[in-house]
Amino acid sequence: MKQVSTSIVILLIRTETKIKVINREERRKIVVTCAPRILPMLTEEIISLGFKINKSDHLSIETEGTFDDTMYLNLHLRTANKVLYHIKSFRAPHPDILYKEVHKIDWQDYMRSDGYMSINGYVKNDYIKDTRFANVRVKDAIVDKMQQVKGRRPDSGPDQSKTMIYIHWKLDQVSIYIDTSGETISKHGYRKMPYKAPMSESLAAATILISKWDKKSSFINPMCGSGTLAIEAALLAIDKAPGLMRDNFGFMHVSLYDERVWEKYKKEAEDKIKDSIDFKIIASDNSNLALIAAKANAESAQVDHLIEFEQSDFKECTVPEMPGVIFMNPEYGLRLGEEKELEAVYSEIGDFFKKRGKGYTGYIFTGNLDLAKKVGLKAKRRIEFYNAKIDARLLEYELYAGTKK
Ligand SMILES: C[S@@+](CC[C@H](N)C(=O)[O-])C[C@H]1O[C@@H](n2cnc3c(N)ncnc32)[C@H](O)[C@@H]1O
Repeated sequence: MKQVSTSIVILLIRTETKIKVINREERRKIVVTCAPRILPMLTEEIISLGFKINKSDHLSIETEGTFDDTMYLNLHLRTANKVLYHIKSFRAPHPDILYKEVHKIDWQDYMRSDGYMSINGYVKNDYIKDTRFANVRVKDAIVDKMQQVKGRRPDSGPDQSKTMIYIHWKLDQVSIYIDTSGETISKHGYRKMPYKAPMSESLAAATILISKWDKKSSFINPMCGSGTLAIEAALLAIDKAPGLMRDNFGFMHVSLYDERVWEKYKKEAEDKIKDSIDFKIIASDNSNLALIAAKANAESAQVDHLIEFEQSDFKECTVPEMPGVIFMNPEYGLRLGEEKELEAVYSEIGDFFKKRGKGYTGYIFTGNLDLAKKVGLKAKRRIEFYNAKIDARLLEYELYAGTKK
């Protein structure tokens, strides 16, 4: 678990009528959400950060902790979308009851009356057809309460860079959370220049985490595009927390936020970063524009000194002495290029693995399972993912150096 013992844990908030005490050390439900099929990697991450898993479904994990713990999770998690801090759960078989229950919450404890908030959420029930209507009811309840207690109301709208409230309303069960992430943390904050169908940063991290790469041997990324896989590998190798590359999170706009605790967490994370690596991370692509993007993104993540960039066809790329992994994300004909033309490319990847990848483990991340068959090698593992909405696989090939015994 996070290593900070918070010195000041009691926050006093004066309202017109009373002095309220919010215990910042109070442990509450924390829900961490993720993209479909990322759950196994997110589970591992959460456990290795010292949190326990209380419950999970295919898109979220429930753990528990303090408000400060949400900051810690936002700082360190590579495969998550959002970290939600639980405020209240209740039954609401009608939007009017939703309004009444949300109005009962002491919102003045969480936000400033001169601030700005945005409401987001997931709604699935028969009471309303449009999620936006639920969001408006929640917004109305909050601003009415703030007006009543503080004499003024916060502004609201779609801007996700300030206070974010999340509503989960399924059947008649409602849970209200503070969205401590704000903009999704699946974006790790370094990608300034995308190039042709980039993988999301959290997806790239998840594929590497589930692979056999040991963070100590070569990581070769031909067809690197904007460099996401090579950059995520470098970040993992030096143990750099993704949250260090972002300067805004939802938790920063909540009254419970203590900047000193955040600075302390960041300092601890920075102190853990390794200066160098003693193996190679190579990113190559045959497009000069891809390499310009990859270098710019690696510079922005401050890992450009750890990656060797080369412009080459994948068949000619440098492959150092084994062991290591070769990670490839070729185009797959749905969004880019034509499937027919790509058949030859996939078959050449198979040849490349056989000839030049001996002693390595080869990985292909693709959203086209027919093209994957053209590789002509038997995959040892086929791990299911989605790339946005496309059914995708990470295929693992054991490329034996000698004869397979
Ligand atoms: C789907 S993109 C890779 C996206 C990358 N994973 C990212 O996150 O940005 C495929 C890349 O393969 C490159 N490429 C296509 N054919 C190639 C070849 N024969 N040799 C090297 N690179 C190639 C393209 O230029 C493109 O950048």
